[in-house]
Amino acid sequence: MVQRGTFITFEGVEGAGKTTQVQRLATALGPDVVLTREPGGTPVAERIRDLFLTSDGITPMTELLLIAAARAQHVDELIRPALEANQTVICDRFTDATVAYQGYRGGIDLDLIHQLNHVATGGLTPDITFILDLPPEIGLQRQQRAETHRDRLESEPLEFHRKVREGYLFAAKSETHRVKLIDATQSPDAVHAALLTEYHKYLSQQKFF
Ligand code: TMP
Repeated sequence: MVQRGTFITFEGVEGAGKTTQVQRLATALGPDVVLTREPGGTPVAERIRDLFLTSDGITPMTELLLIAAARAQHVDELIRPALEANQTVICDRFTDATVAYQGYRGGIDLDLIHQLNHVATGGLTPDITFILDLPPEIGLQRQQRAETHRDRLESEPLEFHRKVREGYLFAAKSETHRVKLIDATQSPDAVHAALLTEYHKYLSQQKFF
């Protein structure tokens, strides 16, 4: 295999502290890190993100197709070229979010989601995925305390977020080599330390291949 940079993705239910942890890890790994997000990450994909987050009445299938379109653009324009240039890419949400949100929550067949994910990414998969896990009621309480603006999905009822978490826990169980479940009820410093430990473990394992 041609050498390329490491591809790291972050996932989690709302209020898990993902944005903070993505930024802290990027800072810890140094200046040559490309930090990006889904849906979004390029001008076209960010326009799709706006549509996705602000359109009421959107069906799960439309969500899936919009996400796939944004992802195809993002992978081709930004993620793959950066990895090929041997840069580390950290992406705030990626394909596991589609399984959790459009699959577990939206009820779309998981095989179809895997197929579309494969088409949109051209087969690119993350090297390591961190799922910041916590009970959704704690995540939503944290958001209420922070009084941040809530988008279309963040405003969904608790049951929605429970399903999303179920999807993420399934991903963690089925791909243990790639997906690392991190207890996000811990303090931000403890979560950051756990992420660094897992990242270094991953790097040391690569030396043996
Ligand atoms: P964010 O709040 O983490 O920026 O993510 C934006 C929203 O998009 C979040 O509510 C989850 C949702 N989403 C999906 O529903 N499916 C996906 O595949 C992705 C990447 C995000």
